Amino acid sequence: MDGTPLVLDNGSGSVKVGYAGEVEPKVVYSNMYTAVRASRHAPSKAATEALEKSNARLHVMDHGVVTQWEGLVEVFEAAFDEMKVHDPSQHPCLVTEAPFNPTVHREVLVEKLFEELRVPAVQVVHSGALALYATNRRTGLVIEVGDGVAQTVPLFDSYVVANAVQRRDFGGRDLTAYLGELLQRELGYKEALADEVWWTQLQTVKERMCRVATQHAPSSRQDPVQQEYKLPDGKVLDWEQGLLSQCAEALFQPGQHLKVDEEAVGIHKMAASSVLGCGLDIQKSLANSVVLSGGSTLFPGMCQRVQEELQRLLPSAVKAKVTRVAQPMYAAFMGGSILASMPDLRKTFMTRSEYLEYGASFIQSKSVSLTKPHPMP
Ligand SMILES: Nc1ncnc2c1ncn2[C@@H]1O[C@H](COP(=O)(O)OP(=O)(O)OP(=O)(O)O)[C@@H](O)[C@H]1O
Ligand SMILES: [Mg+2]
Repeated sequence: MDGTPLVLDNGSGSVKVGYAGEVEPKVVYSNMYTAVRASRHAPSKAATEALEKSNARLHVMDHGVVTQWEGLVEVFEAAFDEMKVHDPSQHPCLVTEAPFNPTVHREVLVEKLFEELRVPAVQVVHSGALALYATNRRTGLVIEVGDGVAQTVPLFDSYVVANAVQRRDFGGRDLTAYLGELLQRELGYKEALADEVWWTQLQTVKERMCRVATQHAPSSRQDPVQQEYKLPDGKVLDWEQGLLSQCAEALFQPGQHLKVDEEAVGIHKMAASSVLGCGLDIQKSLANSVVLSGGSTLFPGMCQRVQEELQRLLPSAVKAKVTRVAQPMYAAFMGGSILASMPDLRKTFMTRSEYLEYGASFIQSKSVSLTKPHPMP
């Protein structure tokens, strides 16, 4: 596989890594690093001891932004090891990033890849757009909600309409925390959210039992993966429990329910802004081709609910049609895999010699042209 580019979909929750041209990542790694590893970088002896005593693991990223760079390098190294990539200098890397990240973020990412992972060439692309490439469509609106970031990305004829992209900092991790609050409020649970065991249980309940409410409620038989869940104290949560549909409701009213920016609007409003932010001539094509991507769009009822909400916000002549990509958690990887296989795209990678000559900021001028200006409405 020497010379084959690697694709790294660097998500707030997990990193998906594999070779260009493959349909699925080879390795999916939780984007966390253990406190023992973190302790090597702790500022004091006391901090080191405290970290080593706890089994806590730290998130490498927070809402699409890396907060633990040494952790990111370790996660990437571990993923390479598992893939048996013994010599990263043989593999150009295509890495994803959320739109509207701080400029410096991309530069530090590039520096780490060249300096510490010793890769020969790098390209960084926005994750949301890639999901549409994975569906083989050229025009459509991607609504991507992962672990830390919600984004809506309109593409026309394969190009991102940059001025109409929306991003907000909320995702599945916030929903898990909200589910913990709902259990506390409604059933009296007092477990600390920082407790990793409890957190894992909450995440399991969320993924297996929560759904979104729709005008035509999904039947309990076909939709939930699981009908009941036994909590640590023996209490049983069943499918009828109201809080199970309240949790994902926060995707439509994040400012009200999640610990995020109070002004944050729901994914349906972000989607409507993206459609209406594009030229009148393409609004119908975009609304008619909305695709959901990212793990937090996996809730039963999601396509229908987003379609209902979006339709309310669009002119009646602009019909919304919403579907979900086949593998929401891997769609960005799959799009990246397609992109990195294109010889023309490979020519856009920033090389090590360019890095050595011009420094990491040169990546800004190498940004791959997924966008082209489109007239405003
Ligand atoms: N069946 C499911 N129902 C609801 N949520 C789910 C389901 N499966 C996974 N998730 C959630 O999806 C999130 C992970 O999705 P994804 O891998 O797309 O995010 P990411 O790429 O790590 O993060 P981001 O792109 O936001 O930086 C987690 O919060 C996880 O709990
Ligand atoms: Mg992601």
